Amino acid sequence: MPSNLKNKKVLIGISGGIAAFKICELLRMLVKAGASVRVVMTESASKFVTPLTFSALGAESVSTSMWDPGRDSLEHVSWADWADLFVIAPATANIIAKMAAGIADEVLSTQLLAYDGPKLVAPAMNVKMWNNFATKRNIKTLKEQGIELVGPTKGHLASLIEAEGRMAEPTEVYKSIEKILQSKADLEKYRILVTAGPTVEPFDPVRFISNRSSGKMGYAIAEIAKDRGARVILVSGPVAITPPSGVELVNIETADQMLKAIEAKYKYIDVVIMTAAVADYKPKIYSRQKIKKTKSDQNMLMTKNPDIISTLAKRRGRKILVGFALETQNLKAAAQKKMLEKKLDMIVANNPTLKGVEFGSDCNKASIFVKGKRATDLPTMTKSDLAGKILDEVIKLLKRKKK
Ligand code: CTP
Repeated sequence: MPSNLKNKKVLIGISGGIAAFKICELLRMLVKAGASVRVVMTESASKFVTPLTFSALGAESVSTSMWDPGRDSLEHVSWADWADLFVIAPATANIIAKMAAGIADEVLSTQLLAYDGPKLVAPAMNVKMWNNFATKRNIKTLKEQGIELVGPTKGHLASLIEAEGRMAEPTEVYKSIEKILQSKADLEKYRILVTAGPTVEPFDPVRFISNRSSGKMGYAIAEIAKDRGARVILVSGPVAITPPSGVELVNIETADQMLKAIEAKYKYIDVVIMTAAVADYKPKIYSRQKIKKTKSDQNMLMTKNPDIISTLAKRRGRKILVGFALETQNLKAAAQKKMLEKKLDMIVANNPTLKGVEFGSDCNKASIFVKGKRATDLPTMTKSDLAGKILDEVIKLLKRKKK
């Protein structure tokens, strides 16, 4: 189970249906992933599974009534302020109707009305109740409010008939929770330029010098940054992957073109993340015609490309500059040296010769160096997860610069 729910606060509202037993598994998954979980259950829900079961499985607290002695009289408000997400599972036709109408007549519906954050509803009911006009109308109302739904699915209902109305499996509910909590909009105010892929340096109309960068790391950063609300410009060398939707894509081939493309946008950018594997050298002479084979060996004269990120660092203002260091030996020392020499705020060091994180892999193993901080060595993870970690550090840098 991925542990990207660390420190997330999930409030689970359980209403009275037999599917309440499935919440035991969901709760365990959430706790295992590092989330803090509180449970609020209706009286009928506690007839199916006892509050003690959820406490024993790791819920921080379980609320079952508005009238428990010693209970905080403003709990419905304080819990609502506490949660990052309110999951209503199983959601009976009754609680769905109350949500749609704004009724607050017991502990769960009262907390729901006091909560204005994201909600996820996992309906579970008899097929006739699910297909009832009133339920359909109520579901429509919830959707119009931007409330997310997971399920119901088709399967054996409590009545043993096979029909639609069965609560989504705990793994499905968990996946939806993960998706909602990951799509935090903490980069909403920022414009981020990401470079990705190789540069291609031609020496005649059909041949070029390049490298093996797949572009996957940069594309993952662009996608996650976009999901987290940033306006993203992706300046990309030729790659074989589909660009994420909702990002502005600028295709380039050479290092010179990449620098020019960045400079055109630079003024409006808050963060530059240089994931691209820029060719350090380009052929000194470009032949307009295809170079013909001769009997002798050939030498090619190479000339230096601009160091893009160092060029940008000279006119940085308050911008955050993040580099990548691709090293096959002395990873840490070399990365730290690059960060200082190129005047970067942060550098992500990785070694593509390690097993499991080779060129083109969906995973990466990196160490993150932030100026003035100790290095963080990360384990092997997907490029999307690493993108999230990098952006978490970028956010901290942006906040630090603002002060
Ligand atoms: N970079 C750049 N312009 C270049 C070369 C690299 O902006 N001409 C950026 C890369 O995008 C990366 C960082 O600088 O973010 C480090 O790139 P890397 O290839 O690891 O280092 P180099 O400076 O090229 O040094 P070397 O190849 O000698 O390791």
